[in-house]
Amino acid sequence: MNILITGCNGQLGNEMQLLAKANPQHQYFLTDIIIPEGLKASVLDATKKEDVEKFVEENNIDCIVNCAAYTAVDKAESDKSLCEKINTDAPGILAEVIGKRGGSMIHVSTDYVFDGTNHTPYKEEQATCPNSVYGITKLAGEKKVQAGCKNSMIIRTAWLYSIYGNNFVKTMIRLGKEKSELGVIFDQIGTPTYARDLAVAIMTAINKGIVPGIYHFSNEGVISWYDFTKAIHRIAGIKNCKVRPLHTDEYPTAAARPHYSVLDKTKIKNTYGIEVPYWEDSLTECIALLNK
Ligand SMILES: NC(=O)c1ccc[n+]([C@@H]2O[C@H](COP(=O)([O-])OP(=O)(O)OC[C@H]3O[C@@H](n4cnc5c(N)ncnc54)[C@H](OP(=O)(O)O)[C@@H]3O)[C@@H](O)[C@H]2O)c1
Repeated sequence: MNILITGCNGQLGNEMQLLAKANPQHQYFLTDIIIPEGLKASVLDATKKEDVEKFVEENNIDCIVNCAAYTAVDKAESDKSLCEKINTDAPGILAEVIGKRGGSMIHVSTDYVFDGTNHTPYKEEQATCPNSVYGITKLAGEKKVQAGCKNSMIIRTAWLYSIYGNNFVKTMIRLGKEKSELGVIFDQIGTPTYARDLAVAIMTAINKGIVPGIYHFSNEGVISWYDFTKAIHRIAGIKNCKVRPLHTDEYPTAAARPHYSVLDKTKIKNTYGIEVPYWEDSLTECIALLNK
């Protein structure tokens, strides 16, 4: 298959690049809006329909893995139009273009499509109710993907981290080394996702065949941001930073976040026979790589 990977320079995109090397049975076309020096990839702005059409046609693309996104959740509150273009319009364009050719698409979405009032893990068919610009634009993106490409999978994930880019794990390691005390929210509960594990799930779906629909994927387990920070510091060997639990209202942010956004992964596990790693095991693996 000829596979187009958008947003190849992001967290998930970088992990997809690594997996691509281990899966040489496909041909990969790496793209992003900005390509760093040294990376063999093409510039493709996923919000530009004519460019997407030309690229997909010229390279005879069979499948698109959309890792491109606007992920600055707080900034999105005052930057709605750009966020909408990238998170809603671009997935719609990609889906329409590949759908017309009879191809397939894997699109990545978020736990922030839920309002967080559940007390048990969210299943795919449960009512969505995003309460941030980011969540609203991602949900609208899901709908556009489903309308444009019938052979599409939407994988909602949560609390993504990796050795690449900026993320919570890297920030907590940096702050843990810089500060003697740190306040972290303890009343928002979810599950972290190591981007490498998500990339493996995506590659499994490609290799076993796309079964259209919405899926949930994160690591196993349940934790608060506060407990996650304590684990990050313990595993990273940070001993001189006291971590204090904060209520959400003690740490005001521009965007509202769900208090509970644990995702139920039964569907993806049953459909693809995926063994999902426990969050602490994956965190340990990521921190070991960061320390290398
Ligand atoms: N990060 C999380 O905690 C989290 C949680 C839940 C779900 N997700 C979802 O998981 C997916 C992957 O997230 P991630 O953390 O890997 O994202 P990321 O690191 O922010 O990567 C996104 C990539 O897309 C690129 N991009 C932006 N606008 C583009 C455009 N118009 N055309 C092509 N590429 C464009 C970005 O470039 P620039 O950096 O230059 O803008 C970046 O390289 C996204 O769908 C995200 O919504 C993420």
